[in-house]
Amino acid sequence: MSSPILATHRLVRDFGGFRAVDGVELAIEPGTIHALIGPNGAGKSTLFKLMTGVLRPTSGDVVLGGESIGGKRAHAVARRGLVQVFQLSSICARLTVVESVMVGIVTMRHRSFDPVTLFHRRARGEALSVLDQAGLVDLAEARAGKLSHGDQRALEIAMALAVRPSVLMLDEPTAGMSPAETRATADLIVSEARSRNLTVVLSEHDMDVVFGISDRVTVLHQGRVIAGGTPGEVRAHPEVMAVYLGQGTDGGEVRS
Ligand SMILES: Nc1ncnc2c1ncn2[C@@H]1O[C@H](COP(=O)(O)OP(=O)(O)OP(=O)(O)O)[C@@H](O)[C@H]1O
Ligand SMILES: [Mg+2]
Repeated sequence: MSSPILATHRLVRDFGGFRAVDGVELAIEPGTIHALIGPNGAGKSTLFKLMTGVLRPTSGDVVLGGESIGGKRAHAVARRGLVQVFQLSSICARLTVVESVMVGIVTMRHRSFDPVTLFHRRARGEALSVLDQAGLVDLAEARAGKLSHGDQRALEIAMALAVRPSVLMLDEPTAGMSPAETRATADLIVSEARSRNLTVVLSEHDMDVVFGISDRVTVLHQGRVIAGGTPGEVRAHPEVMAVYLGQGTDGGEVRS
């Protein structure tokens, strides 16, 4: 087994007297799709924010590529190759689709957004190529705010992919999507992960997506890891069955 690209060690986050993340040990192997699942309030989004530098740990550490990043700011973490797509939309409605992707490319490379430079033209070319992969190139000149919900989520993934991350963090990428949009998003995640050896960490409530595309699954409950392994191992785990998948393991939406 290779060394993990991303790991957490005894990671803890308190909100006042409440412990949302409680001593989490996680090891994400490079080039894998790793799902974090668990009931509402299990601590998935908080764990994501601790790994991406949006929240500071109360204690413990996050290690990216062998380097401690626990407590580093989100921008510093992103520059080291770990990029997050948030659970809630972060799209600027007035930008066009292609401009939205370009803003990410340009700001990650410390350039100002100047339309006359050669760099800008290159960034536009790169943005269009990412939009093509994400199935959004026909909408390149549309205002981002006018897109359907599913296309906005796909745009957010495209914006993250455009900065060429080594680890892409997706918090509920298919939330609110139609079945067809969900399938397209799952296909995009798999093709990006496999073609670029991208590591993907996702939280997801749609069990068809989780068990259909993940190499590894970690189950959180009340801030703690209660199980982890291959999809088959996790499905068969008695505590997972009891706590989380008790409503049925044949796929479909599982929410507590
Ligand atoms: N900023 C905050 N202040 C106080 N409590 C918080 C804060 N953020 C999260 N929590 C609490 O921490 C717990 C974990 O929340 P989190 O959003 O991480 O869960 P989740 O697993 O992502 O849930 P969901 O599946 O609903 O997205 C919840 O009880 C939540 O109310
Ligand atoms: Mg969440």
